[in-house]
Amino acid sequence: MDRQILKNTIKEIFAGSKGILAMDESISTANKRLGAKGIPQNEEMRRKYRELIVTTPGLNQGIGGAILCDETINQKTNDGRPMADVLKEAGIIPGIKVDKGAKALAGFQNEKVTEGLDGLRERLIDYKKKGARFAKWRAVITIGKNIPTKACIEANAHALTRYAGLCQEAGIVPIVEPEVLMDGDHNLQKCYDVTEETLKILFFELYKYRIDLEGIILKPNMVLAGKESGEKNSVDDVAKATVNCFLESVPAAVPAIAFLSGGQSAQEASAHLNAINKNFKNRLPWIVAFSFARAIQQPALDVWDWEDSKCEKAQKVLARRAKFNAEARQGNYDS
Ligand code: 13P
Repeated sequence: MDRQILKNTIKEIFAGSKGILAMDESISTANKRLGAKGIPQNEEMRRKYRELIVTTPGLNQGIGGAILCDETINQKTNDGRPMADVLKEAGIIPGIKVDKGAKALAGFQNEKVTEGLDGLRERLIDYKKKGARFAKWRAVITIGKNIPTKACIEANAHALTRYAGLCQEAGIVPIVEPEVLMDGDHNLQKCYDVTEETLKILFFELYKYRIDLEGIILKPNMVLAGKESGEKNSVDDVAKATVNCFLESVPAAVPAIAFLSGGQSAQEASAHLNAINKNFKNRLPWIVAFSFARAIQQPALDVWDWEDSKCEKAQKVLARRAKFNAEARQGNYDS
C-alpha cells in the first residue's frame, strides 16, 4: 500500500476550503427526490440531472470531490463524455459509492447492517480504471426504544473496517460513514452518547484491522436532537456538542472529517459547519468539512423542475450553495 497516494488524494479533495458533493443517491432514492418535484423517474432523467450537476460552471470553487453511484459512473453526458471525465477536467476528483445498501440485521428488530463486501476487491479495481480515487460506504445506526444494540454497532463497524482495508489496498481513499440517524424523538444528549459509542467502537475496529488512519476520511452525522423531539438547540450549542463528542472519540491522526447533512436544511447544515469552524478554530486537530447531498443539491433541484430553460438557474444555485459551504469551512459563512 502506498500511503502517500492516499494522503495526496485527501489533500487534493480538501485543497483551499473545498469539500465533497455527495451525488451518489441510489436509483430508488434519486427517483424519490425527482418524483417529489414531479420529474419523471427514469434513467434518462437521472442522467440529465446528474449531467446538470457535473457541468455546473464554477462548481470546482467549492467542491474538490464528488461521489457518484454505479449508474452515474457508467453514464455519459449528452456530448458523449463519461461523467467521471467531466468532473476530472473540472479539477474535481471522482469518487464512488461501493456499498450495496443497509439491510435488516437478522435477529435484531429495526436495526440494519450494510452489505457489499463480496467481490469488492474486484469492483474497486474496475472503478479505479473508470477514474474513482476515493470511495464511500455508509452504515446506518438508528436510535429508538432499546436500540442501537452494541451488536448492531459492532457489525457495522466491522463491515466499514473491512471495506476500508480493501480500499486502501487498492490505493483508493475510503470515506468511512457511520451515520447516526436524526429520525426519532431522542434529545441532543442521546445523539451525543450514541455517536460517541459508535465512533469509539469504530476506531477500535479500524485499529484492530491495521487501517491507516491518515488515509481515511470520516463522514459522520453532526450531534443533533431527533427530528421528532421538539427540542430546539441553538447553532452554537449544536456546534459545541458536536466538537466535544468528536474530540472524545476521533483520533487526531484522521486528516479530515466531512459531515453529512442528514436531513437538515441547507441553511442549517452550513450554519452548523460554520459555527464548528468559527467557534473552535484552535481546538480542531482535523480539517472539518462537508460531504453533503441534500444540503447542497436540494435548493438546485427546487428550481430545476427538469426544464432545459431552468438548467442555468439550477446550476447557479448549486454552485452558490457549494461556495457557502466552502465559506463555512473557514468560519466565514454569513447566513
Ligand atoms: P445527506 O447530506 O443528504 O445526508 O447525504 C449525505 C450522504 O452521502 C449520505 O450517505
